[in-house]
Amino acid sequence: MQKFQELSQTELESLYHDLLGKYKNFQEKKLKLDMSRGKPAADQFEISMGILDEVNSKSSCLASDGMDCRNYGDFDGIPECKAIFCDMLEVDPEEIFIFGNSSLSIMYDAIGKMMLHGVRPGAKPWSRCEKRKFLCPVPGYDRHFSITECFGFEMIPIEMTPDGPDMDTVERLVASDPDIKGIWCVPKYSNPQGITYSDETVRRFAQMKTAADDFIIMWDNAYAIHDLYPDQKVPLLNILEECKKAGDPTRVMIFASTSKISFAGAGIGVFACAEEMMARMKKLLAFQTIGFDKLNMLRHARFFKNYEGLLKHMEKHAELLRPKFKTVLDAFHSQLDGKGIADWIEPLGGYFISLNVMDQCAKRVVQLCKEAGVILTAAGASFPLGKDPRDRNIRIAPTYPTIEELQQAVSLLCIVIQLAAAEKLLQISPEK
Ligand SMILES: Cc1ncc(COP(=O)(O)O)c(C=O)c1O
Repeated sequence: MQKFQELSQTELESLYHDLLGKYKNFQEKKLKLDMSRGKPAADQFEISMGILDEVNSKSSCLASDGMDCRNYGDFDGIPECKAIFCDMLEVDPEEIFIFGNSSLSIMYDAIGKMMLHGVRPGAKPWSRCEKRKFLCPVPGYDRHFSITECFGFEMIPIEMTPDGPDMDTVERLVASDPDIKGIWCVPKYSNPQGITYSDETVRRFAQMKTAADDFIIMWDNAYAIHDLYPDQKVPLLNILEECKKAGDPTRVMIFASTSKISFAGAGIGVFACAEEMMARMKKLLAFQTIGFDKLNMLRHARFFKNYEGLLKHMEKHAELLRPKFKTVLDAFHSQLDGKGIADWIEPLGGYFISLNVMDQCAKRVVQLCKEAGVILTAAGASFPLGKDPRDRNIRIAPTYPTIEELQQAVSLLCIVIQLAAAEKLLQISPEK
C-alpha cells in the first residue's frame, strides 16, 4: 500500500474522484447511524436482567448484617456489596463507600466539596484560591474536563504515552506550580485510547513531589474489569497501596461504577480512598444524605454473589463486544494500513478506539460522515474545551451499533478518512 503523501498529483486526483464517487454512493443509501457515545447495547443489558428478580415483593430485604435495605442505615453501603467492590479495587472495607447510580456524579461532588470545604481539614477551599489549574491527560474523557471547566479551572493538557500520561511533564509541572490542584486519570483501558498505566507510571504518581499540598489524583477506574480478551488481562498497580508506601495516602480518590457491568445509569457507583480521607468525606456527605439506594446494592450483590461472579459476568460482555471491536479494527487494517493518513491503538479492553486521522482533518471527517448519515463523536471532544490542537483525534465508540450497522459505518468512515486526506493534500477547499 502506497502512502498518500508519495502519490503524484495525477494519481492523487484520480484517487480523489474515485473516493468522491464512493462517498456519493454512500450518501444515496441514506444511512441513519449513531456511533457517538460509548453506550452499552441492549443485548448487554439482557445478561443483567436477572438483577431485577433478586429483590421483589416476596423476597427478604435484609442485608448480610441484618440491615433492612428498605430503611435508612448502612450509610457507606451494605457489607456484601462493599465486599465485591473491595475485591475489585483491592481496598479494605473501611476504604470504600457505595454511592448511588453514577460515578461521574461522585466525581463532580468530590470536586465540589474541595471547592467549598478544601481537600483536608483546615485546607483552603479551592474556590478561595485566586487561580486553580487541573492536569488533563489527552485524549481523555470529555465529561471529566467538563467538570473542571464548570468549576473554573484552567485545564492543562498532558500528552498520553503508551505507559500513561507523560510523567516527565506531570512531575515538572506539579513540582513547580502550587495552583495545579490535581489530575484526571482513567488508569485502566483509558477513555478513549485503551491505555493501561504502567507500574512505573503508577509509582511515579504516588511518589511525585507536588508544590500544592492539597493535590488530588482523580483515579477514575471506570474500566477496571472491562477486558476484551480474558486471556490477555492487563494488570494495574494498586495506586492507594503505592501512595501509602510513599507516605501520602490521601493523595488519591478512586472511582468506579457498574454502569458498563449491569445497567448504565441504574447501576452502582463506588468511591474509595484512604481511611483518613474517608472520614472527612463521610463527615461532609452526612450533611447531604442519610444514605443511598440499598435495595439496588442488595440486588446487585445477590446477583453477582462475589467478585468471581462479577468477573464471569464481564466475560459475557467481552463475548458480545469482541466482534464489534474486530469489525472496526479489521476495516481500519484493510482500508487504511500503510497509507500514512491514520493511526489507531488496538485496545485490549474498555469501550473505545482512539483514531488519529491526518492533521487538521478530524472535523472534516466528522462533518462528511454526518452528511452521509453517520454521527461520530464530535472532533476534539476528548480535549479540554473541545479543542484538539492538531484537529486529528476522533473517538470511535463501537459498542452500541449492531455489527451490520458498524460494517456500514466503518466502511463509510474509511472512505471519508481518505477523502479528507486527499482534499487536504490537493488543497481542495472543503466547501467546493
Ligand atoms: C472514564 C469514564 N468515567 C465515568 C463514566 C461514567 O460513569 P457513570 O455512569 O458511573 O457516571 C464513563 C462513561 O462513559 C467513562 O468513560
